[in-house]
Amino acid sequence: MNLEQEAEIRRKMFFVYTLARIFSVLKEKGLIGATRMVVQQLKRGVVQSHLYVIGHNILPNNSMPVIETDLEIRQITISDNDDIDEMTEIDEWQIPKSATLKMFEEGQLCYIAKHQNHIVACQWVVITKEFEEYYLRRELRLSPNEAYNWRGFTVPTFRGKGILPLLVGYEESDIARRFGKTFILGWVRTDNQSMLRALSKLGWTRIGGMGFFQILGIRFHYLWGRHAFERTRPRFKIQILW
Ligand SMILES: CC(C)(COP(=O)(O)OP(=O)(O)OC[C@H]1O[C@@H](n2cnc3c(N)ncnc32)[C@H](O)[C@@H]1OP(=O)(O)O)[C@@H](O)C(=O)NCCC(=O)NCCS
Repeated sequence: MNLEQEAEIRRKMFFVYTLARIFSVLKEKGLIGATRMVVQQLKRGVVQSHLYVIGHNILPNNSMPVIETDLEIRQITISDNDDIDEMTEIDEWQIPKSATLKMFEEGQLCYIAKHQNHIVACQWVVITKEFEEYYLRRELRLSPNEAYNWRGFTVPTFRGKGILPLLVGYEESDIARRFGKTFILGWVRTDNQSMLRALSKLGWTRIGGMGFFQILGIRFHYLWGRHAFERTRPRFKIQILW
């Protein structure tokens, strides 16, 4: 099936799905309930989020960064229960442990930096060819040589010490060596100067943009940039959230 045929099928499926959802909402809530829902959504106005897509070529001979500090950097797995508990407690986005375990089961990799046996930074990477992006709630696809970097943070008292670049540098070398990855990408909020600074130290640059506008519970996703998740189709996508 070519891309046009795939797009046509998607359009038809979307139309059928939308009609089915409208009927089921009307059946479930009645006309008054459905009207109330529309009014509530209208009151919320337009919700929107705009992000930079950033990326970095991993050199084939990329060596592990030399860690001169008293940090211990390593990958953890689903069996590192104590580390997972500690990470859940300090997680910047308060992602529940159950969701974290699911991410491990899906094959995501997690790297941590420890200082005096306590986690001070954490970074996740997706190496499977497609995945549901946690924040945007949309599917993204990767080329076989690509990896997706996300869920990185340093605990507030350790910020500004160059820990995240060390951790990402370690992760990049590891996925290049073990999985043959040559390109890593991710997104960052346009106002997140700290993350942009941290990754620019490793040579990450802006390669595109993505985000959404949302009104009446309907999300209009966009994605641009030739090297920004270039396998992902469609680049513009409508999603019903009800
Ligand atoms: C973004 C973040 C991961 C950077 O980690 P880090 O280990 O502090 O990285 P660095 O030490 O390289 O610092 C990067 C920049 O953060 C800023 N920074 C420095 N000290 C800081 C502090 N105490 N608090 C916040 N930001 C600080 C500086 O601009 C610094 O750049 P500089 O080294 O050129 O001065 C960290 O600030 C963080 O966890 N933020 C909240 C979560 C987040 O935004 N994650 C990224 C999601 S895409």
